[in-house]
Amino acid sequence: MKHYLVTGGAGFIGANFVKYLLKNYQDIQLIVLDDLTYAGNLGTIKEELKNPGVAFVKGDIGDPQVVETIFEKHNIDFVLNFAAESHVDRSIENPQLFLQTNILGTQNLLEIAKKHWTKGKDENGYPVYREGVKYLQVSTDEVYGSLGDTGYFTEKTPLDPRSPYSASKTGADLIVTAYSETYKLPVNITRCSNNYGPYHFPEKLIPLIIKNILEGKKLPVYGDGSNVRDWLYVEDHCKAIALVLHKGRPGEIYNIGGHNEKKNIEIVKLTLSTIRRLMEENPVYRKALKISGDSLDWISEDLITYVKDRLGHDQRYAIDPAKITTELGWYPETKFEDGIVKTIRWYLENQDWVAEVTSGDYQHYYQQMYGNR
Ligand code: NAD
Ligand code: TYD
Repeated sequence: MKHYLVTGGAGFIGANFVKYLLKNYQDIQLIVLDDLTYAGNLGTIKEELKNPGVAFVKGDIGDPQVVETIFEKHNIDFVLNFAAESHVDRSIENPQLFLQTNILGTQNLLEIAKKHWTKGKDENGYPVYREGVKYLQVSTDEVYGSLGDTGYFTEKTPLDPRSPYSASKTGADLIVTAYSETYKLPVNITRCSNNYGPYHFPEKLIPLIIKNILEGKKLPVYGDGSNVRDWLYVEDHCKAIALVLHKGRPGEIYNIGGHNEKKNIEIVKLTLSTIRRLMEENPVYRKALKISGDSLDWISEDLITYVKDRLGHDQRYAIDPAKITTELGWYPETKFEDGIVKTIRWYLENQDWVAEVTSGDYQHYYQQMYGNR
């Protein structure tokens, strides 16, 4: 039986990964470590926590005591590090927290994994590890910086982060690489493009737009809305991570992306028209609306408002996933047109979840970011 330590498993991608593993793999033991920041919510994995094969630990990935105790109690085979401060706008306000969690937290996990997995030394002084162990760092395409109108990020693209968030993720990647080179720790790094899907915290573009439409609020588009992101359905990302963990060559980096570039303004318009269509087709969905009335005419592009641009806003991200496709046979299975409908339906049907995760400091955050819109 394999033991997986999944950090950040109460957040968006980590929770989807926990669900994905339990659905697709038998005889596994999961230990979820999450500090339950504003972005983590135990309700997201409440069904999974009933499974005797899943244990939850509340704690900081950067706390040596917490991580030591997990390794002492469980025979961990795999570490998957999803835990991070993940929102670019917040990193602009408070960069230090990002360095603390994303870089120092990662190094703490690496150090304790190395210690517990080492069973001796080879003739050159390198550690020799227990068979079959691996550390996987969940990273982002944002470490490559920003593209112009053409070109794609490959694994060989030079690192060129621009925001405090992407700089902190780059720092994390570099310390992972250092453990791989210096101590021969078996690692992989995956660098994925923007995810979307269920359980996405409504501070990121797609869930924020859905939430605002349902509340009849303005839809804040930064700058002129021409920035491009390469959107991938979260379950496709989870599948790629599981593949890299089990089949990826140790020491390698794999880019993960959907070949699905969209301008922000296209995303906003498509979300508007899809919500309206779904409500017209199925009036049950109107229950998700926070304002009453028979007409849906107000669900229109009039809700869009162009706001001050994000500082240092990266123009375009686009991934070339050729390596993971060729080596591991992965490709994105969910077409964007289907994934966005699945996602919107999920939000329409799970307004309780939205209420739960936004019951903390969300109102305060929103007010600071967007004022009284
Ligand atoms: P998220 O913000 O939704 O979740 C992060 C989780 O980490 C939360 O549950 C939070 O409580 C937890 N956490 C934060 N600090 C912690 C700490 N110090 N110790 C323990 N737990 C802590 O983020 P997400 O969107 O699920 O992203 C997961 C990972 O994937 C991140 O590393 C992110 O950089 C990376 N990534 C995200 C995207 C995306 O589009 N969302 C794309 C590529 C890569
Ligand atoms: P976001 O979801 O924060 O992801 P990232 O910055 O990591 O790519 O933002 C996606 C894009 O949408 C990005 O170009 C910024 C833009 N954006 C808006 O225009 N309005 C918003 O309210 C938000 C949150 C983002």
